[in-house]
Amino acid sequence: MPFLITIVFLALLSSASTTSSAPYTPTDYILLNSGASSNTMSDDDGRHWVADADDLYSNTSSFSSIASYLEPSVTQVPYMTARIFHGQFTYKFPVSSGPKFLRLYFYPNEYPGLDISASFFSVTANNYTLMSNFSAYLVSSASPPQAFIVKEFVITVHDQQMLDVTFAPSPNSFAFINGIEVASMPANLYTGQTFGSVHLLDTNYFFELKNTTALETAYRLNVGGNDILKTDDSGMFRTWNQDSEYIFGAAFGVMPYQPNTTIKYTKATPVYMAPEVVYETARTMGPTASINLNYNLTWLFTVDPGFYYLVRLHFCETSLQYINQRVFDIFINNHTAEEAMDVIALSGGNGIPVYKDYVVWVPQSVNDLWVALHPQTRGKPEFYDAVLNGLEIFKLSKWDGSLAAPNPPPETAPLTQKHSKKKGTFFIQKRVILGATLSSIVPMVLIFVFWLRKHLLRRTEALNRRKVSPTLCKHISLADILTATNDFDNALIVGRGGFGNVYRGCIPGVEHEVAVKRLNSKSHQGENEFWAEIEMLSQLRYINLVSLIGYCNENREMILVYDYMVNGTLRDHLYNNDNIPLPWKQRLRICIGAARGLTYLHSGAVQRIIHRDVKTTNILLDETWVAKVSDFGLSKTGPVLMENVPITTMVKGTFGYMDPEYYRRLQLTEKSDVYSFGVVLFEVLCARPAVDTRLNEEQIGLAGWALKCVENETPEQIVDPYLQGTIAAECLRVYVEIAKNCLHDVGVERPKMRDVLGMLEFALQLQETAETNQTVIGDGDTIDRPHTIDEVV
Ligand SMILES: *[C@@H]1O[C@H](CO)[C@@H](O)[C@H](O)[C@H]1NC(C)=O
Ligand SMILES: *[C@@H]1O[C@H](CO)[C@@H](O)[C@H](O)[C@H]1NC(C)=O
Ligand SMILES: *[C@@H]1O[C@H](CO)[C@@H](O)[C@H](O)[C@H]1NC(C)=O
Ligand SMILES: *[C@@H]1O[C@H](CO)[C@@H](O)[C@H](O)[C@H]1NC(C)=O
Ligand SMILES: *[C@@H]1O[C@H](CO)[C@@H](O)[C@H](O)[C@H]1NC(C)=O
Ligand SMILES: *[C@@H]1O[C@H](CO)[C@@H](O)[C@H](O)[C@H]1NC(C)=O
Ligand SMILES: *[C@@H]1O[C@H](CO)[C@@H](O)[C@H](O)[C@H]1NC(C)=O
Repeated sequence: MPFLITIVFLALLSSASTTSSAPYTPTDYILLNSGASSNTMSDDDGRHWVADADDLYSNTSSFSSIASYLEPSVTQVPYMTARIFHGQFTYKFPVSSGPKFLRLYFYPNEYPGLDISASFFSVTANNYTLMSNFSAYLVSSASPPQAFIVKEFVITVHDQQMLDVTFAPSPNSFAFINGIEVASMPANLYTGQTFGSVHLLDTNYFFELKNTTALETAYRLNVGGNDILKTDDSGMFRTWNQDSEYIFGAAFGVMPYQPNTTIKYTKATPVYMAPEVVYETARTMGPTASINLNYNLTWLFTVDPGFYYLVRLHFCETSLQYINQRVFDIFINNHTAEEAMDVIALSGGNGIPVYKDYVVWVPQSVNDLWVALHPQTRGKPEFYDAVLNGLEIFKLSKWDGSLAAPNPPPETAPLTQKHSKKKGTFFIQKRVILGATLSSIVPMVLIFVFWLRKHLLRRTEALNRRKVSPTLCKHISLADILTATNDFDNALIVGRGGFGNVYRGCIPGVEHEVAVKRLNSKSHQGENEFWAEIEMLSQLRYINLVSLIGYCNENREMILVYDYMVNGTLRDHLYNNDNIPLPWKQRLRICIGAARGLTYLHSGAVQRIIHRDVKTTNILLDETWVAKVSDFGLSKTGPVLMENVPITTMVKGTFGYMDPEYYRRLQLTEKSDVYSFGVVLFEVLCARPAVDTRLNEEQIGLAGWALKCVENETPEQIVDPYLQGTIAAECLRVYVEIAKNCLHDVGVERPKMRDVLGMLEFALQLQETAETNQTVIGDGDTIDRPHTIDEVV
């Protein structure tokens, strides 16, 4: 029977004398030296720890223990003493509400009478699973070995709550802890940020980082600088490490510490954001433009797969003064996170710090997280260079509140190295890529670039030999493409996307105009998606789908050629443009066409296809206003038999349209498309974007706002003013009902696309009936507006 023991800590406040001048003073600050019996313990930083005195625990299944020896790099406080648990045990920390750092200190060493390698346990805090069946021993002996382990979490304590930290040994095992630290932090420092401030990579939109998400710090780096001690942080006792171990390939441009620079903190980047020294030091690419153009300044991190990560990049331009002096692109795991980053333009001047947050999904098969910078030359900046000052990476808790990851596999000979462990590191699982010294760097860049080029060439040759069913889809020569697009003339661009640009043009031997989609080699849409799209599209021929005419992949170009849609995207005819707004019946017919296209994808033809990126810009209109669903680059296929069985996949798609269930649970079904289509339906009715950050908060997201109005039975409030008085009441009622059902929070409750189609056809019928009964309305496609009929809203 497991023991269930709880200890409440009162009056545990302690303080560190060294921090009185720090920009931020935690309101709650607790340092608990587990297993210690004396209250007067200071660590090497001068922070005072309190003992979790034994008498409190006399009735529990826990006991204190003292490590058999301390390695030279390990400090006595808090590592020498430990508390050992043979049953479940909860510490309750009475703290104020708000976000807290929780830091757990483990020293997996020899304790008398215990085999530390047999210790497996779970730790939960306020219902977040921080670790599960965790072995400090396995983690510390994985490569590179660490003497001790510090885990840092960010947990928001809500009103009326305490911070509960529970240790639960795995069966026949024991748990231990050497020290616990709790420190409050300013609200909204990491979580609970205002909606719209965090970019979910791979989409155009945002990620809501709520305060119900718990974070685990994975990395915190003072890029280009030295380690920063906890006591030199801006008051929250965070550790900042130097970045040299994470640099991949070459990096020699370290901007020196500049004593003259004063860091001008702002309201957006307050003084506690990061200590000055983070902003005073930086890494740049180096002085030689020709070299910089040929490599990416890259950092490589090992992360646990299957989680979202928050990547915060800190910038401060201390050596340049003006806009367009140093402009660069930012890539995270091959996604373009930022194009044309200009620190001065963003911050407003020299010495002003700024930061940018990105959220990236790391799928199951991936252990790496890359951050890469590359000079952006398009605007002809003065220097072809890039700069970064600081970086933080956090793992985000899953929808079930878990942050736990499996233990690393046992090393082959961990015990023999026991005494030669390197200095304990703040974060687990560092990986040293290249121990580059400054003098070896230039040749390394060249070798690296050379290797990459050879590698790429070989790949491309192999791909060129791939075959696509020739009858369905023809190969078009690059020469013809260049003729058609006037050498990719910018004036011919009709669309831009994450994948690259779309040009219009005429291909010799093809009667009508074509759309040439030139895939950006930098985009996430790699060769695999390219071939997937060709193979899929060439099999699909349907009136409501865009037809692929041909493709080209010469000279490392990846190009798809489609029929050109004269009337552009559906969005072009809804808002933010000069087109005449479409009348209601035409909008309905377009929705019906798009619904047919999606129904065909979901249940038709050869395979079950989920579009994954349904939005008004992916619904195109031909010269007769027939709707054509486009952009299958993100599609995923599966056998029809598996209808509604989730495909677990990495999140792609566009925020604002994205099925909440999909990004919460990463389960993709046709119902995710149905959700997005529901957003499209409201967009068509309201003629406003799916996400509009200029509006006040409750109106930002169309889906939420529209549902609210429908709930309050005031749908007229959101109808496009241009349509007022032209929609038959019955038709509107049915239409709104369909859209609402599509947006149901739970996928299985949403209608199938086939049913959506049927209902839309019914709505059109209702409109037509209303119009024939009321002769005044006429066609509805004319500009005459009826105002006299009570059947009309
Ligand atoms: C331990 O048990 C004794 C007797 O059962 C009880 O009086 C005492 O309050 C307990 N102490 C704690 C800390 O629970
Ligand atoms: C968490 O966020 C909610 C809504 O965003 C807010 O009302 C609440 O005060 C926050 N709680 C804390 C403890 O910060
Ligand atoms: C944890 O979850 C349980 C059950 O859902 C709930 O009763 C309890 O209040 C939660 N505790 C905290 C600290 O959130
Ligand atoms: C805990 O992990 C160890 C090794 O990683 C494994 O052998 C053991 O079966 C796990 N126990 C549980 C309860 O998951
Ligand atoms: C510091 O400022 C002084 C006066 O403004 C200047 O002469 C000196 O060159 C500056 N030093 C550096 C390292 O920029
Ligand atoms: C990024 O792209 C490269 C080359 O295509 C590939 O080898 C690598 O695995 C990709 N990384 C990620 C995280 O997708
Ligand atoms: C830089 O990284 C991006 C994204 O992974 C990649 O597409 C590009 O080819 C890289 N550039 C160089 C020169 O390595």
